[in-house]
Amino acid sequence: MRKMFSPFLVLVVVASFVLAACGGGKSDGPVVGNAEAGKKLYESSTLGSNSAEGCVSCHNYDEAAGEADKAPYTAGTAARAESAVAGMSAEEYIHESIITPDAYVVEGFKEGDMYQKWQAELSEQQIADLVAYLLTEK
Ligand code: HEC
Repeated sequence: MRKMFSPFLVLVVVASFVLAACGGGKSDGPVVGNAEAGKKLYESSTLGSNSAEGCVSCHNYDEAAGEADKAPYTAGTAARAESAVAGMSAEEYIHESIITPDAYVVEGFKEGDMYQKWQAELSEQQIADLVAYLLTEK
């Protein structure tokens, strides 16, 4: 048994060096959203790698901006998101609403009416920025 011990220890030491080398330096951690960048994206007339019509082409800000005939109002998104789906945080709900819109369809709206391809056409960072922005719209 004692003989087995030291090669194993060497392996552990080598493995931890390799891990440290890969993990160190770059910050490859979870993507952190920026609300200001998200607001700019949200308000762009076109968005993403396919230049699709932007969020505001469907989402009016509030009643003063027009009817919520194409999509729910932007104002109040964060407040609605908190209780939309039991067990889901506002952040998780908004994220899901962007990447898989039909997972939960807002009452009064139809499945398939929200643009379905944002996950493919936006970067992870852009999606995180949009979520961070919508979390400020209480
Ligand atoms: C083609 C029209 C259209 C576009 C473009 C669009 N949406 Fe939507 N969106 C909808 C509709 C319709 C719903 C409601 C149906 C549903 O829940 O999927 C919705 C729902 C949502 C919800 C859930 C709202 C709530 O109050 O629960 C979020 C969040 C959202 N959209 C974000 C976005 C973002 C961010 C963009 C731009 C990247 C965007 N939408 C672009 C039509 C659109």
